[in-house]
Amino acid sequence: MKYDITDIKKAADGVKRIEWASKDMPVLAQIKEKFAKTAPLKGLKMSACLHVTAETANLVRTLKAGGADLVLCASNPLSTQDDVAAGLVKEYGIPVFARHGVDNTGYYRHIQSALNHNPHITMDDGADLVTAIITKYPALAKQVIGSMEETTTGVIRLRAMEKDGILPFPVIAVNDADTKHLFDNRYGSGQSTLDGIIRATGKLVAGSVFVVAGYGWCGRGLASRVRGHGAKTIVTEVDPIKALEAAMDGFEVMPMQAAAKIGDFFCTVTGDMHVIRPEHVKLMKDGAIIANSGHFDIEIDLVGIRKISKKVIKNMRGASMEQYVISDTKSVYVLAEGRLVNLGCAEGHPPAVMDMSFATQALASEWCVKMKGKLPNRVHTPPQAIDQNVASLKLKAMKINIDSLTPAQKKYLSSWDMGT
Ligand code: ADE
Repeated sequence: MKYDITDIKKAADGVKRIEWASKDMPVLAQIKEKFAKTAPLKGLKMSACLHVTAETANLVRTLKAGGADLVLCASNPLSTQDDVAAGLVKEYGIPVFARHGVDNTGYYRHIQSALNHNPHITMDDGADLVTAIITKYPALAKQVIGSMEETTTGVIRLRAMEKDGILPFPVIAVNDADTKHLFDNRYGSGQSTLDGIIRATGKLVAGSVFVVAGYGWCGRGLASRVRGHGAKTIVTEVDPIKALEAAMDGFEVMPMQAAAKIGDFFCTVTGDMHVIRPEHVKLMKDGAIIANSGHFDIEIDLVGIRKISKKVIKNMRGASMEQYVISDTKSVYVLAEGRLVNLGCAEGHPPAVMDMSFATQALASEWCVKMKGKLPNRVHTPPQAIDQNVASLKLKAMKINIDSLTPAQKKYLSSWDMGT
């Protein structure tokens, strides 16, 4: 078996971590049991490009139980948990191409290794596999039945490909399922982003001024968690509806130019580029902490900020913080090299929330295979039945019962003639 990981000797620790996470992933466990009986992915080669974490390990074990012949590579150079990668290779026989802290060349070599598997199905977190197929390995597209996409930024990229008419196979936007973005993006990003910032800096959030750039599902989650920690929370936005929602949720809303002068912490969660730029850093206070929790490392214009810095000092409090010295009296501190702070400085979303995202991934893969040849080469939202199924299984696992409609209520909801 070919693989490229940091240290196979870490496997035992990885297995413990994977098993610990599995305790909080009961929905995925049920799907794994079902997949082991029905083998919906039998005979299919799969290449997955995801954050190599304990939660992902439980997803790929589920896909393997469903019959997939699967290889995994990383969707971010800093999120790989080396012990998990080793556990997957040694204990579960899954080829992994991922090393924590890999450089750019190694990162793309791993993507190439995953595609050398000649997949029938691909699974992305950020659309790197689909992009590589389109730009570098177009011949591979012929046998691809479809691809799953995990994250908002990936879906934005894929919709742009659809618009340009270059999408070579159908894509299922798992991110757009309610059981994904309403929970993973909001509660997962909310908790894990704050967790990463606190782990990296050791600073008190209470009483600080915390600027959240972007009020999508991740931004909403982060802003509410930050407020819960007692920070004066400011939201910046470009979308008037989201800005209005943030204001009515009780947050202060202002342009970054104004927020830059007063913030202690800044975190971008927009999916866009250059949200924090040199002109903002010039206005910031000494000691400002800057982080990003959007998928790519371009939300903070680090190239521009480097240009206005006298020097950059690496490894402040460990590898996850860099000091940008702007003047003799002012420095700002950037976390995780501007990459996803929740995965670079913490462990990503907790398993209880990835349970739903990855249950939706597994069921979307099964659906994609069932629909082989029937879906146009577009970006598709997973069917509502998958959402309903995942939500019902999660409620059951949480031992929460809900009401069901009476026959009269059902009739009322499907009629139009019963008014006042
Ligand atoms: N994305 C965010 N958190 C994650 C996690 N724990 N595992 C995999 N992908 C993630």
